[in-house]
Amino acid sequence: MKKSEIINLLNKDLTGEIEAILIYMRDSFVTPQCDPSRTMEEIAKDEMRHAETLSELIVDLGGIPSMLHKELDFGKGGTKGYLRKLISLEEGAIAMYREHIAAIPDEQIKKKLTHILHEEEEHLEEFKEKLRDLK
Ligand SMILES: [Fe+2]
Ligand SMILES: [Fe+2]
Repeated sequence: MKKSEIINLLNKDLTGEIEAILIYMRDSFVTPQCDPSRTMEEIAKDEMRHAETLSELIVDLGGIPSMLHKELDFGKGGTKGYLRKLISLEEGAIAMYREHIAAIPDEQIKKKLTHILHEEEEHLEEFKEKLRDLK
């Protein structure tokens, strides 16, 4: 796999992280219940660290962090709807990190992405728990 191909994959991961940061921050502001709101805010900060790790990896490979994001969909229908949206974003991130870990041959990059993947798995569980608590 060429460096440029690895950079492309990492930039796709970065796009997902930026999308998550923006959506989690916004949803944390409009969520009236303190507990899920704080969880969204805390997890947004984890995603910011992921964006930092990915950007460093991209620059180390000679690339430029794209800092792009897709059109933002914040979820609908109040706190439960927001949490469902965040759960789907975490599921998407987990699937993409698994795919990229399998595809990228560099051991150091695999290790860093695997660390991020484990945090995404924890985020998924935390959001699911917050949704269960609301029922
Ligand atoms: Fe992340
Ligand atoms: Fe996450």
